[in-house]
Amino acid sequence: MKKIGILFGQERSFPEAFVKKVNELAPSGIKAEFVSIDKIFQAEALDYAVIIDRISQDVPFYRAALKNAAITGTAVINNPFWWSADEKFFNNALAVKLGVPVPKTALIPSYEQPTDTSDQSFSNLAFPLDWEAIFEYTGFPAYMKPFDGGGWKEVYKLHDKEDFFDKHSQTKQTVMMLQEEIIFDAYFRCYCIGGKYVRVMPYEPRNPFHLRYVVDGPPSDEKLLKTIHDHVITLNQYLGYDFNTVEFAVRDGIPYAIDFCNPAPDADINSVGQENFDWVVETSAKYAIERAQSNVRGQDNLTWGKYLQTAANAQPLLPVAGKKATSPKSEAPAKSVAKPKATAKAKPAAKATTSKK
Ligand SMILES: Nc1ncnc2c1ncn2[C@@H]1O[C@H](COP(=O)(O)OP(=O)(O)O)[C@@H](O)[C@H]1O
Ligand SMILES: [Mg+2]
Repeated sequence: MKKIGILFGQERSFPEAFVKKVNELAPSGIKAEFVSIDKIFQAEALDYAVIIDRISQDVPFYRAALKNAAITGTAVINNPFWWSADEKFFNNALAVKLGVPVPKTALIPSYEQPTDTSDQSFSNLAFPLDWEAIFEYTGFPAYMKPFDGGGWKEVYKLHDKEDFFDKHSQTKQTVMMLQEEIIFDAYFRCYCIGGKYVRVMPYEPRNPFHLRYVVDGPPSDEKLLKTIHDHVITLNQYLGYDFNTVEFAVRDGIPYAIDFCNPAPDADINSVGQENFDWVVETSAKYAIERAQSNVRGQDNLTWGKYLQTAANAQPLLPVAGKKATSPKSEAPAKSVAKPKATAKAKPAAKATTSKK
């Protein structure tokens, strides 16, 4: 029997529906249940071929347990090593390299010094930073948000540099990004499952939470939808996420990727609505079954994205024009890359660095 487990926190509608759907669709020999953990011993397998992880971003014990599960052969969705290493600012840099439009974004050191550091710890950071260049790069209004945030926490719309310094002084030890505002005429949120199944959902972030997923909006331009679809696939294949959402703000017909580091995306029926919920339940169940079927006992069954694969194989990020593409298939695990890194505590700066020019 191959078991598919789901690991989750406070959410209720998705986990239950997921388990029910897998058990409806699965051929004999595969079944789903809620993950149950009563002990974790090093290099000892949990009894799951596949685990859908919806919560380890908030529970470090689970993240470590999932890495241990991965080395014993569980296909963890999403790859816990990559999720630990990844953050929004890197994602933006990757998007630029892949030719996916993103707003101009600068990385901003934390306002407060990280615990256990002092002024002495910042020998390499200029004081003050070149704020004028940073502000000129992003312009105002601009958005400021955590470099590895989510759930709209600490997202600020800023009108000028005084506003920036004021809000920045409230952000404590969080490393922030300052980002060009995209004034959009359309906005989309897209599920991507398995780096291949995509659902593009018109979304209105300016509406109250429960009315954001637009149900009866005007039809969108087919060419735009195709571009969005292709960007979603590119980003997720390179990042190596099995389950993610990508948000786009469309300005002058160009979709800019705004937020695409959501490895435990909202899938609650009350926010996404019935049709999107049905799609995400059905598609994730189908994909989890695929992963259970392709699981090879005892070996690495994680998805490693093309960014890591090309890097580990000393290949260019994108196929070089005129050369036969030799980049490995997206699903093929690159065995040499599993160099896990604990959640990146970025080396932020000190309060002193934000002194106004
Ligand atoms: N650069 C931007 N231009 C325009 N709107 C933005 C921009 N960045 C964020 N927003 C708005 O703020 C919301 C939250 O920001 P987002 O980057 O999605 O953070 P989170 O990961 O917390 O959801 C977005 O859904 C969008 O409405
Ligand atoms: Mg978002």
